[in-house]
Amino acid sequence: MKLPALLLLTVWLNCPAALSSSCSRAPADWCSSLDSAVRCGVLKHCLESNLTRPHQTADPVQVGLYYESLCPGCRLFLTGAVFPTWLLLSDIMSVTLVPYGNAGEKPDGQKYIFECQHGEQECLGNMIETCLINKTNYAFPIIFCMESSSDVIKSAKSCVEIYDPELSWDNVMSCVNGNLGNQLMHLNAMKTKALNPPHKYVPWVTINGEHTEDLQDKAMSSLFELVCNLYKGPKPPACGEGQRHYKSYCHKG
Ligand SMILES: *[C@@H]1O[C@H](CO)[C@@H](O)[C@H](O)[C@H]1NC(C)=O
Ligand SMILES: *[C@@H]1O[C@H](CO)[C@@H](O)[C@H](O)[C@H]1NC(C)=O
Repeated sequence: MKLPALLLLTVWLNCPAALSSSCSRAPADWCSSLDSAVRCGVLKHCLESNLTRPHQTADPVQVGLYYESLCPGCRLFLTGAVFPTWLLLSDIMSVTLVPYGNAGEKPDGQKYIFECQHGEQECLGNMIETCLINKTNYAFPIIFCMESSSDVIKSAKSCVEIYDPELSWDNVMSCVNGNLGNQLMHLNAMKTKALNPPHKYVPWVTINGEHTEDLQDKAMSSLFELVCNLYKGPKPPACGEGQRHYKSYCHKG
């Protein structure tokens, strides 16, 4: 249990600027304004990366993922392919997550009752993820965190605390247990039922709204390559053209 303290010490020794207490945002947001770039000690990096970022001239490749929170194949694909690809290619791709998959619904008065392939826990996982997608810009990292942990449901609260400390767990759970969650899950059901061709399994992938066996196979074998190939604008450095420079070093003191 000594390891984290040691790690922290090492980080502190090598990288004093990053621990500046006035920087309270996550790395993904450091360049979001001049002010936070200054506070987080990355102004030079942000100016450079803003300048060298390829100006988007084409529409992002839209990846749709129809999945279930506890389906093993879905978890592998989401954590091993969709999330890492998005981390590297978020400039040229957008991801829509639709947690529902092979679930079913039946109306019950004003509400719907859902039944999930992997039981009630899966319905709960789907619902938490659906509410997160509605409530935070950090839904994807939080869902990645949940799906990559050993217990998708148990980890949810800590994943929220890590990636969006401003979102209260009560807020998430009031969506999960209330009308909002119920309505949002019904929308997922409708989107899933509207798939053409209808889905036969999960994870089911659409690319720019389209599903073919060929696109599915390519997505499953290398989503990264598929997105790079399909993007019509100039390829970003991550696709292997041009060079990527990391210039935000923390120098030894
Ligand atoms: C980087 O670009 C974004 C959007 O183009 C802008 O809002 C932000 O202020 C820029 N950041 C810096 C540090 O210039
Ligand atoms: C959240 O759901 C409500 C109700 O359906 C909707 O009006 C709102 O636009 C959604 N917000 C996001 C970010 O999806």
